[in-house]
Amino acid sequence: MAGKVLTERYETLSRQIAQTVADQLKAKPTSCFGLPTGQSPKGCYKLLGAWSKALELNWEKASCFALDDYLEAEESITFQTFLEDNLYCHTNLSGDRRFNPRFVDDYDDLIASRGGLDLTLLGIGANGHIAFNEPGTPLESWTHCIWLTESTRDSNKRYFGSNVTVPHRGITMGIRTILESKSLILVASGNNKKRALERALAGPVDPSIPASFLSLHPNVTVLKDFN
Ligand code: PGA
Repeated sequence: MAGKVLTERYETLSRQIAQTVADQLKAKPTSCFGLPTGQSPKGCYKLLGAWSKALELNWEKASCFALDDYLEAEESITFQTFLEDNLYCHTNLSGDRRFNPRFVDDYDDLIASRGGLDLTLLGIGANGHIAFNEPGTPLESWTHCIWLTESTRDSNKRYFGSNVTVPHRGITMGIRTILESKSLILVASGNNKKRALERALAGPVDPSIPASFLSLHPNVTVLKDFN
């Protein structure tokens, strides 16, 4: 991978990512952000929420695009609800600038019409997925619907009550959508990501490890909290 790979404590890497988002927003108030859900970006969102509440960040002209979401899921467990609760509700980003692929006919067209993604944050799955691009997703993929692998459903069980079934289907930005973003930050938190990240960084590009496609991007930073 051409970009930087940094190892930090979770609190430190969360602060670094939040600072990069804040700097981007200040430098370009109309910025478009691609945003993930999950445990990995939570620390960053917490800081961004606090800074936004302290009125240090103005999201009025920005646009935020969820990377992915479940289909056929109860609203309370959707990624949109996660982003509302963990980030949006602490900011002055208006409702009509909080985009989600479930509610847009042509997500890629919409992103392009807003000038394209400036900065996209990504998590990585234990199976190497980025957003919901599961192993086998081709490079030339745009926003599309998917079937979740059992590995992803299994690791997402922790977010659901014991009586709730993890959805089988989702919608996600494609690999090409992600690579079109001007800059990318991948945050890998937790030792269970170690193997997938090592394979992604080792190259060459391998569709069975979707994160390996990031090596095709000129401006990627990887932040991890394990050695
Ligand atoms: P996590 O999920 O941050 O909750 O570990 C990452 C992912 O599956 O993309």
